[in-house]
Amino acid sequence: MGVFITFEGPEGSGKSTQARLLYERLQALGYPVLLTREPGGTRIGELIRRILVDLRHTEMAPTTETLLFAAARAQLVSELVRPYLNTGGIVLCDRYADSTFAYQGYGLGRDLDELQAITTVATGGLWPDLTFYLEIEVEAGLRRKRMARDRAVEATNPASTFTTPPEWNRLDARDLAYHQRVAAGFTALMSNDPGRWRRFAAEQPLDALAEQIFSEVVPVVQHVFRPEARG
Ligand code: TYD
Repeated sequence: MGVFITFEGPEGSGKSTQARLLYERLQALGYPVLLTREPGGTRIGELIRRILVDLRHTEMAPTTETLLFAAARAQLVSELVRPYLNTGGIVLCDRYADSTFAYQGYGLGRDLDELQAITTVATGGLWPDLTFYLEIEVEAGLRRKRMARDRAVEATNPASTFTTPPEWNRLDARDLAYHQRVAAGFTALMSNDPGRWRRFAAEQPLDALAEQIFSEVVPVVQHVFRPEARG
């Protein structure tokens, strides 16, 4: 069995960048490593993602939303994550089931036991070995994300600032109180399972944060076989 590592955090925490930096570093060291994301990561999952993030889907019922996240996760676990872990590799995932507890549980007020049951069906009970939480004050994170969106708009289509690029999605557009409940939810999740989580301040230089993350990963991946390092 390989090693399963996930990245979590509120909007604009920069976890996708850190997941990529870790992926590149492990790959350069010869580790078998896979980088994926949620919702998405598979052909079917990316289609489900499109439905979930579409700003026009204002009528989506909370149950539908919850089950779609679970469906995308079920596909990812069965198609990519489990098979790769079974070959002894390292899987890095940008968000995973903790996001369901934070966003649909604490954020939308869904029953946590019900989410647990749905998650177990979707994942077969697969939980990460290690989860990084990149902490940022909610308003600062949303500001960062909005700025990234504005830059993307200017870069792709200067003539039309009315186009909404995918960086700003249906879930980002929820109100501040929602995002604050999500952040408080993550804090509660971390205190329930402290051994699995590593918590870092998101607002620090990229390289410094990448270094701290890497030093936590080293002992966890030590047993992973590196074909390139043979002999
Ligand atoms: P994404 O653009 O990937 O957000 P981020 O860049 O912050 O990771 O969009 C994913 C959105 O879906 C994000 O707002 C978090 C939300 N989400 C849930 O609400 N529940 C979930 O189970 C998952 C995996 C994500």
